[in-house]
Amino acid sequence: MRLRLAGALAAVLVTAGLAAGPAAQAAPDPVRQPTLADLAERHGRYFGSATDNPELTDTAYTRLLGSEVDMITPGNGMKWYATEPQQGVFDWTDGDEIVDLARRHHQKVRAHTLVWHSQLPDWLTSRQWTASELRAVLKKHITTEVRHYRGKVYAWDVVNEAFDEDGSYRETIWYKTLGPGYIADALRWAHQADPHARLYLNDYNIEATGPKSDAYHRLAKDLKARGVPLDGVGFQAHLALQYGYPATLEDNLRRFSRLGLDTALTEVDVRMQLPATEEKLAEQATWYRDLTAACLAVRRCAGVTIWDYTDKYSWIPAFFPGEGAALPWDEELRPKPAYQALREALR
Ligand code: XIL
Repeated sequence: MRLRLAGALAAVLVTAGLAAGPAAQAAPDPVRQPTLADLAERHGRYFGSATDNPELTDTAYTRLLGSEVDMITPGNGMKWYATEPQQGVFDWTDGDEIVDLARRHHQKVRAHTLVWHSQLPDWLTSRQWTASELRAVLKKHITTEVRHYRGKVYAWDVVNEAFDEDGSYRETIWYKTLGPGYIADALRWAHQADPHARLYLNDYNIEATGPKSDAYHRLAKDLKARGVPLDGVGFQAHLALQYGYPATLEDNLRRFSRLGLDTALTEVDVRMQLPATEEKLAEQATWYRDLTAACLAVRRCAGVTIWDYTDKYSWIPAFFPGEGAALPWDEELRPKPAYQALREALR
Protein backbone atom coordinates (compact mmCIF):
# COMPACT_ATOMS: atom_id res chain seq x y z
CA MET A 1 0.00 0.00 0.00
CA ARG A 2 2.73 2.37 1.06
CA LEU A 3 4.81 1.38 -1.96
CA ARG A 4 1.93 1.85 -4.37
CA LEU A 5 1.27 5.24 -2.85
CA ALA A 6 4.95 6.09 -3.24
CA GLY A 7 4.83 5.03 -6.87
CA ALA A 8 1.72 7.09 -7.53
CA LEU A 9 3.22 10.15 -5.86
CA ALA A 10 6.47 9.74 -7.79
CA ALA A 11 4.43 9.61 -11.01
CA VAL A 12 2.67 12.83 -10.06
CA LEU A 13 6.00 14.52 -9.30
CA VAL A 14 7.47 13.37 -12.60
CA THR A 15 4.37 14.64 -14.46
CA ALA A 16 4.68 17.96 -12.68
CA GLY A 17 8.33 18.16 -13.71
CA LEU A 18 9.39 18.19 -10.07
CA ALA A 19 11.32 14.94 -9.98
CA ALA A 20 13.81 15.98 -12.61
CA GLY A 21 16.83 18.27 -12.32
CA PRO A 22 19.27 19.05 -9.56
CA ALA A 23 16.74 20.80 -7.33
CA ALA A 24 14.57 17.70 -7.13
CA GLN A 25 17.61 15.54 -6.46
CA ALA A 26 18.63 17.67 -3.51
CA ALA A 27 15.18 17.63 -1.92
CA PRO A 28 14.42 14.85 0.57
CA ASP A 29 12.18 12.12 -0.76
CA PRO A 30 8.77 13.05 0.66
CA VAL A 31 7.44 9.48 0.82
CA ARG A 32 10.51 7.54 1.95
CA GLN A 33 9.73 5.78 5.19
CA PRO A 34 12.12 6.88 7.94
CA THR A 35 15.06 4.56 8.48
CA LEU A 36 16.19 3.20 11.85
CA ALA A 37 18.85 5.92 11.76
CA ASP A 38 16.22 8.64 11.14
CA LEU A 39 14.12 7.36 14.02
CA ALA A 40 17.11 7.13 16.37
CA GLU A 41 18.25 10.64 15.43
CA ARG A 42 14.94 12.06 16.62
CA HIS A 43 15.97 10.86 20.08
CA GLY A 44 19.49 12.25 19.71
CA ARG A 45 20.87 8.70 19.36
CA TYR A 46 22.38 6.66 16.57
CA PHE A 47 21.52 3.27 15.16
CA GLY A 48 24.51 1.38 13.85
CA SER A 49 25.67 -1.85 12.28
CA ALA A 50 28.93 -3.71 12.08
CA THR A 51 30.12 -4.72 8.65
CA ASP A 52 33.09 -6.58 7.23
CA ASN A 53 35.21 -6.21 4.12
CA PRO A 54 34.39 -9.45 2.26
CA GLU A 55 30.67 -8.65 2.10
CA LEU A 56 31.14 -5.18 0.61
CA THR A 57 31.01 -6.66 -2.91
CA ASP A 58 27.34 -7.55 -2.29
CA THR A 59 25.57 -4.50 -3.70
CA ALA A 60 22.11 -5.32 -2.36
CA TYR A 61 23.77 -5.63 1.04
CA THR A 62 25.71 -2.37 0.86
CA ARG A 63 22.66 -0.47 -0.41
CA LEU A 64 20.70 -1.29 2.74
CA LEU A 65 23.75 -0.79 4.96
CA GLY A 66 24.29 2.64 3.41
CA SER A 67 20.74 3.80 3.99
CA GLU A 68 19.36 2.23 7.15
CA VAL A 69 22.03 3.06 9.76
CA ASP A 70 24.10 6.12 10.69
CA MET A 71 26.97 4.42 12.55
CA ILE A 72 29.33 1.75 11.22
CA THR A 73 31.74 -0.56 13.05
CA PRO A 74 34.34 -2.59 11.17
CA GLY A 75 33.81 -6.17 12.37
CA ASN A 76 37.45 -7.11 11.86
CA GLY A 77 39.29 -4.55 9.74
CA MET A 78 40.73 -2.48 12.59
CA LYS A 79 41.87 -5.38 14.79
CA TRP A 80 45.54 -5.88 15.52
CA TYR A 81 46.08 -8.86 13.18
CA ALA A 82 44.72 -6.75 10.32
CA THR A 83 46.39 -3.43 11.09
CA GLU A 84 49.88 -4.50 12.23
CA PRO A 85 50.44 -7.92 10.64
CA GLN A 86 54.23 -7.58 10.99
CA GLN A 87 55.82 -5.68 13.83
CA GLY A 88 56.00 -2.03 12.87
CA VAL A 89 54.36 -2.66 9.45
CA PHE A 90 50.89 -1.17 9.35
CA ASP A 91 48.13 -2.00 6.91
CA TRP A 92 45.07 0.24 6.79
CA THR A 93 43.45 -1.32 3.73
CA ASP A 94 40.44 -2.93 5.39
CA GLY A 95 39.77 -0.21 7.94
CA ASP A 96 40.11 2.54 5.35
CA GLU A 97 37.71 0.80 2.99
CA ILE A 98 35.03 0.82 5.65
CA VAL A 99 35.74 4.38 6.82
CA ASP A 100 35.49 5.57 3.19
CA LEU A 101 32.24 3.70 2.65
CA ALA A 102 30.79 5.22 5.82
CA ARG A 103 31.91 8.68 4.78
CA ARG A 104 30.25 8.35 1.38
CA HIS A 105 26.98 7.55 3.17
CA HIS A 106 27.38 10.30 5.79
CA GLN A 107 27.72 7.69 8.52
CA LYS A 108 29.94 7.87 11.59
CA VAL A 109 32.37 5.16 12.68
CA ARG A 110 32.73 3.36 16.02
CA ALA A 111 36.25 2.01 15.71
CA HIS A 112 36.98 -1.46 17.11
CA THR A 113 39.38 -2.38 18.77
CA LEU A 114 42.88 -1.47 20.06
CA VAL A 115 43.69 -3.78 22.99
CA TRP A 116 42.28 -7.29 23.07
CA HIS A 117 43.55 -10.80 23.75
CA SER A 118 42.05 -12.22 20.57
CA GLN A 119 42.88 -11.88 16.87
CA LEU A 120 46.44 -10.81 17.62
CA PRO A 121 49.19 -11.36 15.01
CA ASP A 122 51.57 -14.30 15.45
CA TRP A 123 54.62 -12.09 15.88
CA LEU A 124 53.04 -10.76 19.04
CA THR A 125 51.80 -13.99 20.61
CA SER A 126 54.58 -16.40 19.62
CA ARG A 127 57.31 -15.00 21.84
CA GLN A 128 57.97 -13.74 25.34
CA TRP A 129 58.13 -10.02 26.06
CA THR A 130 59.49 -8.12 29.00
CA ALA A 131 57.13 -5.55 30.47
CA SER A 132 59.04 -2.64 29.00
CA GLU A 133 59.19 -4.25 25.54
CA LEU A 134 55.49 -5.04 25.51
CA ARG A 135 54.56 -1.62 26.83
CA ALA A 136 56.46 -0.04 23.93
CA VAL A 137 54.76 -2.38 21.44
CA LEU A 138 51.34 -1.47 22.82
CA LYS A 139 52.03 2.25 22.89
CA LYS A 140 53.26 2.24 19.32
CA HIS A 141 50.28 0.24 18.09
CA ILE A 142 47.72 2.47 19.80
CA THR A 143 49.43 5.71 18.87
CA THR A 144 49.93 4.80 15.23
CA GLU A 145 46.44 3.41 14.67
CA VAL A 146 44.56 6.14 16.53
CA ARG A 147 46.59 8.82 14.74
CA HIS A 148 45.82 7.24 11.39
CA TYR A 149 42.09 7.45 12.07
CA ARG A 150 42.23 10.76 13.92
CA GLY A 151 39.28 12.97 13.06
CA LYS A 152 37.64 10.12 11.13
CA VAL A 153 36.08 8.13 13.93
CA TYR A 154 33.49 8.99 16.54
CA ALA A 155 34.67 6.52 19.16
CA TRP A 156 37.21 3.80 19.91
CA ASP A 157 36.75 0.56 21.78
CA VAL A 158 40.12 1.03 23.43
CA VAL A 159 40.15 -2.09 25.58
CA ASN A 160 37.96 -5.06 24.76
CA GLU A 161 36.95 -7.87 27.13
CA ALA A 162 39.32 -7.12 30.03
CA PHE A 163 37.41 -9.07 32.71
CA ASP A 164 36.44 -12.65 33.41
CA GLU A 165 32.93 -13.68 34.37
CA ASP A 166 33.71 -13.53 38.11
CA GLY A 167 34.93 -9.94 37.82
CA SER A 168 38.64 -10.68 38.07
CA TYR A 169 41.01 -9.37 35.43
CA ARG A 170 41.25 -11.70 32.46
CA GLU A 171 44.70 -13.28 32.33
CA THR A 172 45.65 -11.87 28.95
CA ILE A 173 49.12 -11.19 27.60
CA TRP A 174 48.48 -7.54 28.57
CA TYR A 175 47.44 -8.18 32.13
CA LYS A 176 50.01 -10.89 32.80
CA THR A 177 52.90 -8.82 31.45
CA LEU A 178 51.88 -5.26 32.33
CA GLY A 179 49.46 -5.58 35.24
CA PRO A 180 46.11 -3.74 35.45
CA GLY A 181 47.71 -0.38 34.68
CA TYR A 182 47.69 -1.24 30.96
CA ILE A 183 44.07 -0.06 30.78
CA ALA A 184 44.73 3.49 32.01
CA ASP A 185 47.86 3.65 29.85
CA ALA A 186 45.93 2.57 26.76
CA LEU A 187 43.26 5.22 27.37
CA ARG A 188 45.86 7.95 27.87
CA TRP A 189 47.80 7.02 24.73
CA ALA A 190 44.61 6.89 22.69
CA HIS A 191 43.52 10.28 24.03
CA GLN A 192 46.86 11.84 23.15
CA ALA A 193 46.60 10.50 19.61
CA ASP A 194 43.02 11.71 19.04
CA PRO A 195 41.67 14.03 21.74
CA HIS A 196 38.21 14.13 20.14
CA ALA A 197 37.46 10.42 19.83
CA ARG A 198 35.22 9.06 22.56
CA LEU A 199 37.09 6.32 24.39
CA TYR A 200 35.33 3.17 25.56
CA LEU A 201 35.88 -0.04 27.44
CA ASN A 202 33.78 -2.79 25.88
CA ASP A 203 32.69 -6.27 26.98
CA TYR A 204 30.05 -9.01 26.78
CA ASN A 205 27.92 -10.47 29.58
CA ILE A 206 27.82 -7.15 31.39
CA GLU A 207 24.29 -6.22 30.27
CA ALA A 208 22.76 -7.47 33.51
CA THR A 209 24.19 -6.46 36.86
CA GLY A 210 26.52 -9.08 38.30
CA PRO A 211 30.18 -9.58 39.21
CA LYS A 212 31.53 -8.78 35.76
CA SER A 213 29.48 -5.62 35.33
CA ASP A 214 30.32 -4.61 38.92
CA ALA A 215 34.01 -4.93 38.03
CA TYR A 216 33.51 -2.44 35.19
CA HIS A 217 31.60 -0.11 37.46
CA ARG A 218 34.41 -0.16 40.02
CA LEU A 219 37.11 0.26 37.39
CA ALA A 220 35.26 3.07 35.57
CA LYS A 221 34.69 4.93 38.82
CA ASP A 222 38.34 4.58 39.75
CA LEU A 223 39.56 5.71 36.32
CA LYS A 224 37.27 8.76 36.41
CA ALA A 225 38.44 9.64 39.92
CA ARG A 226 42.04 9.51 38.69
CA GLY A 227 41.31 11.71 35.68
CA VAL A 228 41.98 8.96 33.13
CA PRO A 229 40.31 9.83 29.80
CA LEU A 230 37.45 7.34 29.75
CA ASP A 231 34.22 8.42 28.03
CA GLY A 232 32.06 5.35 27.94
CA VAL A 233 31.37 1.71 28.53
CA GLY A 234 30.16 -0.48 25.67
CA PHE A 235 27.81 -3.35 26.35
CA GLN A 236 28.27 -5.83 23.53
CA ALA A 237 24.89 -7.51 24.11
CA HIS A 238 25.51 -10.78 22.29
CA LEU A 239 22.32 -12.25 23.72
CA ALA A 240 20.84 -15.74 23.40
CA LEU A 241 17.17 -16.63 23.87
CA GLN A 242 18.03 -19.74 25.89
CA TYR A 243 19.75 -17.70 28.63
CA GLY A 244 16.91 -15.25 29.27
CA TYR A 245 16.64 -11.50 28.81
CA PRO A 246 18.96 -9.34 30.99
CA ALA A 247 16.15 -7.62 32.87
CA THR A 248 18.47 -5.30 34.81
CA LEU A 249 19.91 -3.76 31.61
CA GLU A 250 18.23 -0.37 31.96
CA ASP A 251 19.18 0.08 35.64
CA ASN A 252 22.67 -1.07 34.83
CA LEU A 253 23.09 1.46 32.00
CA ARG A 254 21.80 4.13 34.36
CA ARG A 255 24.34 3.43 37.10
CA PHE A 256 27.14 3.89 34.56
CA SER A 257 25.54 7.15 33.40
CA ARG A 258 25.68 8.34 36.98
CA LEU A 259 29.46 8.02 36.88
CA GLY A 260 29.40 10.67 34.14
CA LEU A 261 29.94 8.15 31.36
CA ASP A 262 28.28 7.41 28.06
CA THR A 263 27.03 3.92 27.48
CA ALA A 264 26.19 2.13 24.24
CA LEU A 265 24.97 -1.24 23.09
CA THR A 266 27.82 -2.06 20.76
CA GLU A 267 27.47 -5.54 19.22
CA VAL A 268 23.86 -6.54 19.58
CA ASP A 269 22.58 -9.84 18.30
CA VAL A 270 19.96 -12.19 19.73
CA ARG A 271 20.75 -15.76 18.74
CA MET A 272 18.59 -18.85 19.13
CA GLN A 273 18.91 -22.57 18.75
CA LEU A 274 18.04 -23.48 15.17
CA PRO A 275 15.67 -24.01 13.56
CA ALA A 276 14.11 -20.60 14.02
CA THR A 277 10.36 -20.82 14.64
CA GLU A 278 7.71 -18.15 14.51
CA GLU A 279 7.59 -18.19 18.32
CA LYS A 280 11.32 -17.73 18.69
CA LEU A 281 11.39 -14.92 16.15
CA ALA A 282 8.54 -13.21 18.02
CA GLU A 283 10.41 -13.59 21.30
CA GLN A 284 13.54 -12.24 19.64
CA ALA A 285 11.58 -9.22 18.43
CA THR A 286 10.52 -8.34 21.97
CA TRP A 287 14.17 -8.52 23.06
CA TYR A 288 15.23 -6.12 20.32
CA ARG A 289 12.37 -3.80 21.28
CA ASP A 290 13.18 -3.95 24.98
CA LEU A 291 16.92 -3.43 24.68
CA THR A 292 16.37 -0.46 22.40
CA ALA A 293 13.81 0.99 24.80
CA ALA A 294 16.28 0.50 27.66
CA CYS A 295 18.89 2.56 25.82
CA LEU A 296 16.36 5.28 24.98
CA ALA A 297 15.28 5.44 28.62
CA VAL A 298 18.80 6.29 29.78
CA ARG A 299 19.91 9.75 28.80
CA ARG A 300 23.58 8.98 28.28
CA CYS A 301 23.04 5.80 26.29
CA ALA A 302 24.40 7.10 22.98
CA GLY A 303 23.05 4.46 20.63
CA VAL A 304 22.65 0.87 19.55
CA THR A 305 24.85 -1.07 17.12
CA ILE A 306 23.87 -4.48 15.80
CA TRP A 307 26.67 -6.94 14.94
CA ASP A 308 25.89 -6.77 11.23
CA TYR A 309 22.28 -6.42 10.19
CA THR A 310 21.53 -9.58 8.20
CA ASP A 311 21.72 -13.27 9.11
CA LYS A 312 23.54 -13.68 5.78
CA TYR A 313 26.72 -12.27 7.34
CA SER A 314 26.28 -12.99 11.05
CA TRP A 315 29.26 -14.45 12.93
CA ILE A 316 26.96 -16.61 15.08
CA PRO A 317 26.62 -19.86 13.06
CA ALA A 318 30.41 -20.18 12.78
CA PHE A 319 31.04 -19.53 16.49
CA PHE A 320 27.99 -21.13 18.12
CA PRO A 321 27.27 -24.32 16.19
CA GLY A 322 23.55 -25.01 15.92
CA GLU A 323 22.62 -21.40 16.71
CA GLY A 324 21.83 -18.46 14.46
CA ALA A 325 19.03 -16.25 13.06
CA ALA A 326 20.34 -13.56 15.41
CA LEU A 327 19.84 -10.36 13.41
CA PRO A 328 16.83 -8.22 12.34
CA TRP A 329 17.11 -9.08 8.62
CA ASP A 330 17.11 -12.66 7.33
CA GLU A 331 19.56 -14.28 4.92
CA GLU A 332 17.65 -12.88 1.93
CA LEU A 333 17.88 -9.36 3.41
CA ARG A 334 14.17 -9.43 4.25
CA PRO A 335 13.18 -7.68 7.48
CA LYS A 336 12.16 -10.02 10.31
CA PRO A 337 9.75 -9.29 13.19
CA ALA A 338 12.76 -7.90 15.09
CA TYR A 339 13.06 -5.12 12.51
CA GLN A 340 9.46 -4.00 13.08
CA ALA A 341 10.08 -4.21 16.82
CA LEU A 342 13.07 -1.90 16.48
CA ARG A 343 10.93 0.59 14.55
CA GLU A 344 8.26 0.47 17.24
CA ALA A 345 10.79 1.02 20.00
CA LEU A 346 12.32 3.97 18.17
CA ARG A 347 9.01 5.59 17.20
C1 XIL B 1 33.99 -11.36 15.66
C2 XIL B 1 33.80 -11.14 14.16
O1 XIL B 1 32.45 -10.79 13.91
C3 XIL B 1 34.18 -12.39 13.43
O2 XIL B 1 34.11 -12.18 12.02
C4 XIL B 1 35.58 -12.81 13.81
O3 XIL B 1 35.93 -14.01 13.16
C5 XIL B 1 35.69 -12.97 15.31
O4 XIL B 1 35.30 -11.77 15.93
N1 XIL B 1 33.21 -9.72 20.44
C6 XIL B 1 33.91 -8.74 19.77
C7 XIL B 1 34.03 -8.80 18.29
O5 XIL B 1 34.36 -7.78 20.39
O6 XIL B 1 35.25 -8.29 17.83
C8 XIL B 1 33.83 -10.19 17.76
O7 XIL B 1 33.78 -10.14 16.33
C9 XIL B 1 32.57 -10.79 18.33
C10 XIL B 1 32.66 -10.89 19.83
